[in-house]
Amino acid sequence: MKYKEIYDNWKTDPEAFWMKTAEAIDWIQPPSRALFPENPPFYQWFADARVNGCWNAVDRHVESGFGDQAAVIYASPITGTEQSLTFRELRDQVAQLAGALASQGLGKGDRAIIYMPMIPEALVAMLACARIGAIHSVVFGGFASHELAARINDASPKCIIAASCGIEPGKIVDYKPLIDDAIELAENKPEFCVVFQRRQSIADLADGRDLDWHEFQRHVEPAPCVPVEGSHPSYILYTSGTTGQPKGIVRSTAGHLVALQWTMKNIYDVEPGDVFWAASDVGWVVGHSYICYAPLLHRNTTVMFEGKPVGTPDAAAFWRVIQDHGVRVLFTAPTAFRAIKRADPTGKLVKDFDLSSLKTLFLAGERADPDTIDWAERQLKVPVVDHWWQTETGWSIAANPMGIEKLPVKPGSPSVPMPGYDIRIMNDNGEELPSGELGAITVKLPLPPGTFPTLWNADDRFRKTYLDKFPGYYETGDAGYVDEFGYVFVMARTDDVINVAGHRLSTGAMEEVVAGHPDVAECAVVGIEDSLKGQVPLAFICLNAGCARNHSAIASECVQLVRDVIGPVAAFKLATVVDRLPKTRSGKILRGVMAKIADGKSYRMPATIDDPAIIAEIETSLKSLGYPISQ
Ligand code: COA
Ligand code: AMP
Repeated sequence: MKYKEIYDNWKTDPEAFWMKTAEAIDWIQPPSRALFPENPPFYQWFADARVNGCWNAVDRHVESGFGDQAAVIYASPITGTEQSLTFRELRDQVAQLAGALASQGLGKGDRAIIYMPMIPEALVAMLACARIGAIHSVVFGGFASHELAARINDASPKCIIAASCGIEPGKIVDYKPLIDDAIELAENKPEFCVVFQRRQSIADLADGRDLDWHEFQRHVEPAPCVPVEGSHPSYILYTSGTTGQPKGIVRSTAGHLVALQWTMKNIYDVEPGDVFWAASDVGWVVGHSYICYAPLLHRNTTVMFEGKPVGTPDAAAFWRVIQDHGVRVLFTAPTAFRAIKRADPTGKLVKDFDLSSLKTLFLAGERADPDTIDWAERQLKVPVVDHWWQTETGWSIAANPMGIEKLPVKPGSPSVPMPGYDIRIMNDNGEELPSGELGAITVKLPLPPGTFPTLWNADDRFRKTYLDKFPGYYETGDAGYVDEFGYVFVMARTDDVINVAGHRLSTGAMEEVVAGHPDVAECAVVGIEDSLKGQVPLAFICLNAGCARNHSAIASECVQLVRDVIGPVAAFKLATVVDRLPKTRSGKILRGVMAKIADGKSYRMPATIDDPAIIAEIETSLKSLGYPISQ
């Protein structure tokens, strides 16, 4: 069947489409139907089924004779380690850890925060939670203790599962002090912490609260897979919203198993047994869906890469992994390829490797710029497929479904909607726009299986953020258009979210932090273009009247503050003091205009601007920072 036929099949009878798709999952009790629309807008899928995610990702492959197949390849150029775990070994490790967690009282519905770098134990921890029905929430290692504390408060975890440290080029990031600070800051304290000691840095364990990963697993019985309802949350993953309070995206168990399993053949075109590599991090949605669950569900070997595209040790790190492990599909963010291209523009290093196993490169996380796509295609000589999705959806809204049919590629477009997604473009009045016209990208409800049914403990915020503006439709937060052939073009965010090196960050959250500096009266943070990271944040700061302190000292303090509160991942390094911020007469800060000036782009001076002279001041202060770069 071709894409069009499959998409139309879904549209004609979504219930039949998803029930058929659900046959690929091992159910303890099969669902009686697919959609449970009883409590709109909180749609559930396969809610009355009984299932276990870990069984489907791990145990069933051992039971059906594939116990000796590699499940996880750990490729860590940063530590010089290569290791492989079979499905049987993975099952045994997961069951043992699950048994130990259960013996400490972690059970179905309890939350566990996982704060770990890219080591196989992170996957073992996620799957151990799934095994006993505990809800995991993985926090990316580049977030500082304040962000970790916000997540602890929101999720109220019974435990934290951590490693003693992460390793970044040239430095060891000790996780334990960050965790201790976060627990100190948090109101809801976890009952216990499990710490995996890495030899690069051994953490001090607190008496009565901290448990050693290996020690606490001794003398406990491995845990069996616990049946959970289809609607049972499998995990919470926090993502940036418009404030400093992160949004807890909830993922229901059954829907995500069904949808993810479907994507592996239909979108990524891999067969069970193939090696699949998502070069991302378990702290992001790509890591949840495509390092952990989807490849394992589909009995693919997943690669856990602990390193960087460049500098660990060189710009051939990706090629080495592809060659050494026979990677069939690589999935990463365009920024990683920009970094490689910058270090090795002519692709000299590529030629030293046998990359014949590689069939497709998938890109997501940010807009894929044509230069990067071109370069990657020329060097790798495989199709480069852009696809568009979000933490909220957990899998592609639009993609080129390589396992169904390779559709013609249109530069700048992640191609066409996947089954389950009925995309409509809306204007500000909630009227649907015809093809070719730019507007807010929305998806008709219900969203498909595998997407989020709500935000953790925040049903009202879920409605307000995503559903209120366009009743009956999910507001993606992206703006774009659909062309006459149904290709989707994603152009920009409609909110204050920016994409820094493929990481989603909120400028609003950074503004909250900068505004907390004692000398700052008000500030605006905007995302400006960056040739490597796509975007980076830049802050305009207005000081309190009478503040006579040195401006660059204050700017540096603000930079340090964001690093301490949000974390280094914010890549917040640019701040400048200005007398005033440009605003409309109604007081709205003209962030878009400031970003355009910094990018050296033309902009339209809003008729409602309060005082046009401020624009000249903004231009002067940007010049002192070296922006726009081309001038
Ligand atoms: N733990 C602790 N600190 C971390 C971290 C982690 N897991 N990940 C990043 N950081 C820190 C870095 O050390 C760096 O700190 P610094 O300011 O002290 O140098 C900062 O956060 C920014 O890191 P990073 O975004 O990695 O920038 P970089 O300049 O070191 O590298 C790239 C640039 C493009 C090579 C890098 O961003 C990259 O590999 N991106 C791929 C993105 C990706 O996989 N995205 C997932 C979506 S698919
Ligand atoms: P995240 O939730 O971190 O995955 O970020 C999701 C956001 O990243 C989307 O809403 C888009 O703004 C952006 N994004 C992700 N993939 C793409 C893509 N292929 N093209 C354009 N933007 C993308």
